[in-house]
Amino acid sequence: MKIAFIGGGNMATALIGGLLASPRETARIQVADPNPATRKQLEGKWPVSCFSQATAAIEGANTIVLAVKPQILPGVLTEIAPFTSAGQLIISVVAGIPISQMSTQLTASPAIVRSMPNTPALIGLGITGLYASSACSAEQRQTAQNLMQTAGETVWLDQEALLDVVTAVSGSGPAYFFYLIEAMQQAGTRLGLPADIASKLALHTANGASAMALQSDADVADLRQRVTSPGGTTQAALNQLKAADFAGVIDSAISAATQRGRELAGGGEKS
Ligand SMILES: NC(=O)c1ccc[n+]([C@@H]2O[C@H](COP(=O)([O-])OP(=O)(O)OC[C@H]3O[C@@H](n4cnc5c(N)ncnc54)[C@H](OP(=O)(O)O)[C@@H]3O)[C@@H](O)[C@H]2O)c1
Repeated sequence: MKIAFIGGGNMATALIGGLLASPRETARIQVADPNPATRKQLEGKWPVSCFSQATAAIEGANTIVLAVKPQILPGVLTEIAPFTSAGQLIISVVAGIPISQMSTQLTASPAIVRSMPNTPALIGLGITGLYASSACSAEQRQTAQNLMQTAGETVWLDQEALLDVVTAVSGSGPAYFFYLIEAMQQAGTRLGLPADIASKLALHTANGASAMALQSDADVADLRQRVTSPGGTTQAALNQLKAADFAGVIDSAISAATQRGRELAGGGEKS
């Protein structure tokens, strides 16, 4: 098994690191990146072969991972198209480029899986939405899932259009949590806490609440009610959030992000 990464940046590095840390993984890894310093760094750190040209990196590869910026992708596809074949699996982590657009360029009709990871993938705590084109076999879907699981959790979608909602919920989601944590830090500081303590309290509360919800069988609404005594401090805070229509604001934010994703993608493969 040979896996080629086109682009050796943040996302490729997270996936390669995850793959090589997996004891069952025996794939040979080849990376294409135009930057000599990036290639030197990758080859110094891991047993991977790096190339300046995408066509050299994909030679003999069963799986090709597209990990370049969206504006770079059309040029990369033009370059590799003559050297791709129907049996190959293409996994794209590139935001916003639909399978229909990739298929138009990759005339050999390889199987394509489109994925939407998020930034915590860089520390192995990501979550990735996956969508497979109809040309993908069960084995190829599993290969894509195994790869993305090296960077965290995965979920499969049965409609490509839903990747825009995944982008809005989890792709952009870390920024919403950073904003909430920021607002909690600022409020704590304004009310008298030293800034470093307010920051530590907000960050660990976010981490603890998320870990607790993930470990619990109860849904988050139940967990919220369990820590909200009638007439208590939490209730006083939640009353303010509800009065300001916190849930409605989040709904508008995620709807706006979904809409923006659709505009940027300009439509996708229908299923
Ligand atoms: N980072 C995330 O958390 C995240 C989350 C979701 C989706 N994504 C998607 O993942 C993709 C990669 O993101 P990233 O954060 O890894 O970007 P990145 O760190 O900029 O990595 C992209 C790499 O591709 C290289 N490159 C440029 N032109 C190339 C070419 N023609 N052939 C091969 N490599 C080329 C770049 O080199 P130079 O720097 O020298 O140009 C860079 O090293 C993007 O499409 C993004 O939408 C990323």
